[in-house]
Amino acid sequence: MVSPPLHARVRRDARTYLDPIESPSVKVLVVGGGGREHALCWKISQSPLVARVYCAPGNAGTALVAENVDLDAEDVKGLRNFAVENKIDLVVVGPEAPLCLGLVDELKKVSVKCFGPSKAAAEIEGSKLYARELCRRHRIPGPQYWPFDDVHGARAFLDMREDGPIVVKASGLAAGKGVTVCKKNDEARAAAVDCLERRRFGEAGSTIVFEEFLEGQELSVMTLTDGQTIIPFEPARDHKAVFDGDKGPNTGGMGAVTPVAVPSRTMAQIENQIIFPTVHAMNRENRKYQGFLYAGLMLTAQGPRVLEYNCRLGDPETQPLLMRLTSDIVPLLLATVDGRLDEQQAPKWDPRPCVSVVACSGGYPGEFRKGVPIFGLDRVTSGPDLQVFHSGTAKKGGDVITTGGRVLAVTAMGKDVEDARARCYAALQLIEFDGIHFRKDIGMRA
Ligand code: AMP
Ligand code: GLY
Repeated sequence: MVSPPLHARVRRDARTYLDPIESPSVKVLVVGGGGREHALCWKISQSPLVARVYCAPGNAGTALVAENVDLDAEDVKGLRNFAVENKIDLVVVGPEAPLCLGLVDELKKVSVKCFGPSKAAAEIEGSKLYARELCRRHRIPGPQYWPFDDVHGARAFLDMREDGPIVVKASGLAAGKGVTVCKKNDEARAAAVDCLERRRFGEAGSTIVFEEFLEGQELSVMTLTDGQTIIPFEPARDHKAVFDGDKGPNTGGMGAVTPVAVPSRTMAQIENQIIFPTVHAMNRENRKYQGFLYAGLMLTAQGPRVLEYNCRLGDPETQPLLMRLTSDIVPLLLATVDGRLDEQQAPKWDPRPCVSVVACSGGYPGEFRKGVPIFGLDRVTSGPDLQVFHSGTAKKGGDVITTGGRVLAVTAMGKDVEDARARCYAALQLIEFDGIHFRKDIGMRA
């Protein structure tokens, strides 16, 4: 195993990387079509460096700030050809799937700068088993875990175990739905059978990981890294369960708040025991990590523990995070790709808290109807501190219709969290579609 020199350090001050340029010239392609990508397009389009923003495939919201391109986020060949033909200067990949398919590697072959980790590095999210083994090999704190790829072994393990809470995870990508938190072994048995025998998540569930159940507060820390330097973004908190009070099944995320008050000692532990060691570990495993590294953490009584890694920004955490980011994001993205993050200035944040509340289709995260018209979007007065970021939406004739489970995220800053919450919920009162539901308690614990 090679261990290249690594001068990982936290960037808190420095000079700017890009010299000021006279006219905007950078052409950016954002890949993806969710709320995170709408927020990315919104933020990137404000950069004085940027001449043009495309989004593939985008949604009805991205169409307001970028030019939508009719290409699927997983159409690696199509995206590569588009980037070459349109002389794209920077591709920014939002979701995990194209990263795990190797979009960054493919674009590199044709000399197109692409922000995000390589296929090998994206495995940190693509395989939960790989992530767990990485932590074990490099002593990064996480729960105990037990992997299985046959149902007999999984059953035998549960038979031998004292009854009690345990977590079952499909190892592969399952759109945020592959995790079952079980109170008892019986539930875990059912979840294991669902994955391994019934193939509920297809190949993604052909290996499962049982995990020790951890208790505490959850925290999302997204860090920009070029494999040498890290720039942790402000911590955020997701709300994964579908109903108020964290009840019901997990979703992709029902809302988020940032910042979250975290003692500086805990933040230092997170950086020193988790973020730095992970970036180092990826270098040592010859999977140099460049992009956003998302650590989903549980703050336990014993200290922070890794629940999961994502190889990208979180959705919906990105929406409030980017609203609070007052610095230009584009130099940060370019410097990450170029491995020059050490020359970057630390990003600046609006001190006001920001809340994002996701409105969903009726039935989500179970079955839901698509193509439902959305009313009232034009009644919302948006601005730099209030935006409706679209997720599962499309334009049909003059209408905006639903196309997914998570439909849109109303995102607002306020003088305090209560004010930000009030602004979000007031805007949500103006938006209607058949079956709309959202949590009423986003940010309340902050
Ligand atoms: P993940 O996608 O791995 O972050 O898991 C989704 C959610 O399941 C997390 O946000 C936690 O709420 C919960 N979870 C995952 N792993 C564990 C664990 N080991 N202990 C307790 N809760 C967990
Ligand atoms: N909000 C959690 C995620 O993006 O995975």
